[in-house]
Amino acid sequence: MTQYAVMGDPISHSKSPQIHSLFAEQTGEDMHYDKFQIAAADFSAEVAGFFERGGGGLNVTVPHKEAAFALADYPSPRASLARAANTLGRDPEGGIWADNTDGVGLVRDLTDNHQLSLSGKHILMLGAGGAARGVLAELIHCAPASITIMNRTLSRAEELRTDLAAQGVMHVRAMNEPGGPRYDLVINGTSASLKNEGLQLDAALFAANFVAYDMMYGAEETDFMSWATAAGAGASLDGLGMLVEQAAESFALWRGKRPETQRVIDQIRQSL
Ligand code: ATR
Repeated sequence: MTQYAVMGDPISHSKSPQIHSLFAEQTGEDMHYDKFQIAAADFSAEVAGFFERGGGGLNVTVPHKEAAFALADYPSPRASLARAANTLGRDPEGGIWADNTDGVGLVRDLTDNHQLSLSGKHILMLGAGGAARGVLAELIHCAPASITIMNRTLSRAEELRTDLAAQGVMHVRAMNEPGGPRYDLVINGTSASLKNEGLQLDAALFAANFVAYDMMYGAEETDFMSWATAAGAGASLDGLGMLVEQAAESFALWRGKRPETQRVIDQIRQSL
């Protein structure tokens, strides 16, 4: 039986073991998936030890995604763009490859699960930290009419725009800055809700029936989702589908089989 795991700190909340167990059951793959709480100082040694013991692959979550990218021998283009990796594996010669499946996870959730077309839409990304960086290139590749990054600290948004400039044009605005297009889709990639801080967005920035997507999820709807509903959103979505879709992409990279996700999303939703 091949061993897989997710490493992070904290990790107790992680749904990845449940998700991958459901994938393994569904596809008949002989694998076991653990979760390990690993301090930043121990991360590289723990990854090396895991693969030396014959481990098949790792998922990596906060705060180790940048370190995972840095230790890889073979980073994928999408991990290089994000400067962060959430999936590690070992190639036959023993080198470690790294990939980032967060962006494709978000796009699959939006386009396959929620049947939203991104092409021609005006997209607003809130936040310019690791979560936003991990998904922006994939969004640009969906040919939206525009992508705007809004961030509390404008310089971070400008840095992100510069780093991803070769992927396509992105605009940068201060929080609630008027004058841009009316946004059709707003994605919350900030960590404001984790700290119980509201974003206080101006509803006038958004098109009628706009879609709001929070990269966070929980048993209850997030503050951002409640705000969006009150502001007239046509749909207010959480990030549980993205979580399952990024996991499915990791699973496919490791095992060469793509699991069916909708039932898994429903099962994980019931367990929240
Ligand atoms: P992550 O890797 O989860 O993205 P991060 O790199 O610390 O974490 O980034 C957190 C993001 O949430 C940043 O865009 C941050 O804005 P700043 O760059 O101005 O710090 C944003 N954020 C966090 N709390 C916020 C709040 N209360 N209001 C607005 N933005 C907030």
